[in-house]
Amino acid sequence: MEKTQLEELLSKMSLEDKIAQLLQISGGYYEEDDMLTGPANLYSITEKVVYNLGSVINTIGARQTKSVQKRYLEHSNHKIPLLFMADIINGLKTIFPIPLGLACSFDMVLIKKTAETAAREAAVSGQHVTFSPMVDLVRDARWGRVLESSGEDTFLNCQYASAMVEGYQGESFDSGENIAACVKHFAAYGAAVAGREYNTVDMSERVLREDYLPAYKAAVDAGCEMVMTSFNVVDGIPASANKKLLKDILRGEWGFDKVIISDASAIQEIVAHGVAEDEKEAARLAIEASVDIDMMSPVYVNHLKELIEEGSISEQAIDKAVLRILELKNKFGLFEHPFGAADEEKEKQVILCKEHRTLAREAAAKACVLLKNEGFLPLGETKKIALIGPYADNKDLLGIWAVHGNREDTVTLKTAMEERLPKELLKTAKGSKIVEDTKRIQSFGSIFELEEDYSDKEVLQKEAMEAAKEADCIVLALGEHFLQGGEGGSRGDITIPEPQIQLYRSLKTLGKPIAVLLFNGRPLDLSAIEDADAVLECWFPGTEGGHGIADVLFGTVNPSGKLTMSFPYCTGQVPVYYNELKTGRPYKKEFENTRFGSKYTDIPNEPRYPFGYGLSYTTFTYHNLQLDKNQLNKRDCIHATVEVENTGAYDGEETVQLYIQDCVGSAARPVKELKGFQKVFLKKGEKKQIAFEIKEEMLRFYTASMEYKSEKGRFLIFVGTNSSDCIMCEFELKE
Ligand code: BGC
Repeated sequence: MEKTQLEELLSKMSLEDKIAQLLQISGGYYEEDDMLTGPANLYSITEKVVYNLGSVINTIGARQTKSVQKRYLEHSNHKIPLLFMADIINGLKTIFPIPLGLACSFDMVLIKKTAETAAREAAVSGQHVTFSPMVDLVRDARWGRVLESSGEDTFLNCQYASAMVEGYQGESFDSGENIAACVKHFAAYGAAVAGREYNTVDMSERVLREDYLPAYKAAVDAGCEMVMTSFNVVDGIPASANKKLLKDILRGEWGFDKVIISDASAIQEIVAHGVAEDEKEAARLAIEASVDIDMMSPVYVNHLKELIEEGSISEQAIDKAVLRILELKNKFGLFEHPFGAADEEKEKQVILCKEHRTLAREAAAKACVLLKNEGFLPLGETKKIALIGPYADNKDLLGIWAVHGNREDTVTLKTAMEERLPKELLKTAKGSKIVEDTKRIQSFGSIFELEEDYSDKEVLQKEAMEAAKEADCIVLALGEHFLQGGEGGSRGDITIPEPQIQLYRSLKTLGKPIAVLLFNGRPLDLSAIEDADAVLECWFPGTEGGHGIADVLFGTVNPSGKLTMSFPYCTGQVPVYYNELKTGRPYKKEFENTRFGSKYTDIPNEPRYPFGYGLSYTTFTYHNLQLDKNQLNKRDCIHATVEVENTGAYDGEETVQLYIQDCVGSAARPVKELKGFQKVFLKKGEKKQIAFEIKEEMLRFYTASMEYKSEKGRFLIFVGTNSSDCIMCEFELKE
């Protein structure tokens, strides 16, 4: 349709029909017989609204979406098709590693491909929009949702945001293989105080603009079709009522004139925040802040009409919101083809096809981060191995957000290892439960039913010890319960759950080498296993997790992942992140015995493993960091070169990282900030020169007067294998 036709359609709609377009409810109601009673009871909305609302959430599958669309269109007033939206976070049916893991690949080509793949599966299943990417900057590992994010670094998050949006959306929705991206949660949801879910966010405008907002902006600049508000307040105002965030920054400064959706019932929650007297006031605040869709709450449908009639808000505000939604429907050609790309036959060909599984396997391997290796890995295929632990043969490798994935499709570690090893070389035992008590982690809506694990502790441990005694070495697959992370999954103690620590300690008494594999959704306190011979962080690796990890264990793939979130020394060190500001009393070794330095009295300042950290089976050395000049002006650029050499015994891939420190600024500046990275593959013994360009725009920040610009002066450049292990040189920025 032409825009004028959309406007004409809009002009024919009654106020009620228009307001109904702004509501999103669960598509489940349309699939079941309680289509009318369900929403009517829950939201007190009428049949008329149910058949004229704008979009539904989490109805998946070509057959289901088509049948819902058909039933809806038979009753709706203007035959405006529904939009189908869903949480497709790390894949639809072919599940990739959780985003935090995927980001550790530092491989934007791979990341983009995973989004393309998810989009292909989703499009043929009848989806139009995914509530992804989530690009909330995260620094506090207690928060369960760090697993949905790409980590603690602004620059990397921006790269990730663009890669995901480009992957999902492709060139055009006409392809039948692409879906719209909805970046979330705008804004700063990742900074919930003390890592406690849904808690207050409080930060300076400088930190908000400098660290937290850029990744959302990168998604918007990449053409993202939708933005989702967050649950939290920003400067005291709930995000869904926050005019400064939504109107001034997002719509005004960034020019975003597409659809804004609230997070689930976030408009309604403005009342609980104590910022609106009642739901009517909440509706007014949200529409005035230009939120177009009210997700899973009746606030708009129940109150907007009255607000217009009494003159508190204008009908134009509603018209604008409806037009944005109609425009999105039009981009999918839904007015001409209401069933869009939904296609049962294509679903069969595409979903979990070989090509998708191959990519998932590659991604699972590339997301792995080798944290420790005392010459133990890779494993030879001739050793007798005891594969032990609650993740040894566990299909729960998808992570909490893979709500449309099917654990039955998952390849476990045991299956993958059996494919490689003769029977007599592999013994498997579960060894322990994941957690002692699942009471407090039980629910995640009705999506996951948790089966209670009644296995006997002594029996499990005995089986494990027997398997281990016969083996040359132990591969111990430990981790968090997948329900310990994600939404509502904050933890006050981020250690490995106790039953698994006990298992580790018992096995350790055997004196055999132990490689610990970790399956988890956040950085953990790893002190309990610090004397393991090797530690491989596998995250929740997805459908092909078993294969991908076995590839790394046996050296078919040399691990190359690098952490995108620091692993703390212990929970009390959280939040710990590499790009902290300089302090007035910075810690120095020589101050160890004085009181007045910025340090702890009982633990180090440094995390256990810093941002950018990750080992390989080979070693890389860095030499000759050189600049072609040591003065930069605003029109010019500096070429920095460094030689990276593979000095170990295996071919391997390294992520060469470039950090910059602004030595003096009108506002305090971070000790270093990532400004570039390159992945380089080096054969053993090979050496390559890597080049980076340094431009004035990379040095901009929010100055004392909140102008976004660079300031002249001295800058340090660090290049290296992680954020703390770098070689350094310096240059000067001239006016
Ligand atoms: C989450 C969002 C999600 C939405 C819809 C909310 O509870 O915060 O991330 O997209 O639900 O499922």
